[in-house]
Parts: sequence; C-alpha cells; structure tokens
Amino acid sequence: MKSLEEAKKARLRAYTPYSKFKVGAAILLKDGTVVHGANVENSSYGLSNCAERSALFSLVSQGYDPKDIVSMTVVANDTKPVSPCGACRQVMHELLPKEAKIILANTDGKTLEMTKDALLPYAFVMDEVHDDER
Ligand code: THU
Repeated sequence: MKSLEEAKKARLRAYTPYSKFKVGAAILLKDGTVVHGANVENSSYGLSNCAERSALFSLVSQGYDPKDIVSMTVVANDTKPVSPCGACRQVMHELLPKEAKIILANTDGKTLEMTKDALLPYAFVMDEVHDDER
C-alpha cells in the first residue's frame, strides 16, 4: 500500500531521543500530494509533538486545504496498529473530512481502518462562535 510506505518514510525522520518510539504519518490529498509528519520530542517531555499532529499542522501551514484530504495513514513499530493519543484524535476530528480513511498500522503491515467518528465518538465540536462572555 503506497500510503503505508509513505508513512514508513516519514517515521524514519522522527526525533525520539527520549522514548525511542518512532511514529510516522502520511496524509494523501485528492491531487495525489502526500504530506508527511513524524513525532518530534523535547527534553521538556510535555512539549513533544506526535506524528499525527505534526502532519496535520504541516499540511495547514503549507497552505493545503484539509477538505482535500482523502486518507491519513499512521505507523509505528508495535505489535498492533498504532493507537493515536486523545489529543491527536481531537485534532484529527477537527481537520479530517467525515469520510476520510484513517489507516492505523504497524511496521509489519497489520492495519486497522476507520473514520474520525469511530476514532473519537462524541468529539468536542464548536457548532457556532460563542460570544457570551458577559
Ligand atoms: N506518539 C505519536 O507520535 N503518535 C501516536 O499515535 C502515539 C504516540 C509519540 C509521542 C511520543 O513521542 C512517543 O510516541 C511515545 O509516546
């Protein structure tokens, strides 16, 4: 699967001197563009950024439209397909289209496919701008 190969490439760029747990993400757009993301850690551990958020923040920063996302593949070297953390699920829910494929994988090629609503049921969504801070 091409997107899994792309996620594996991204994984090799992870900066993980603390956990040594490398994660890669590859987002495929309608026109075939692929945007990569990897986890980037910090000695102040809480500042570390996961691969999923790296990829999505990079996509937005580069001027791509999240509405054009077809799929997002995430991979790590684990016994089972990688499970995104809660923070990433919220960010994925905000930016991925409803029908976008989320493919979770391990480096052996074991995969699990789902949508954002399956990954984060009852997500926090702002239906309108709240302007009632009186
Ligand atoms: N991590 C990710 O990048 N994505 C996930 O889905 C799970 C966890 C990272 C965060 C940290 O750099 C390392 O994996 C260990 O938690």
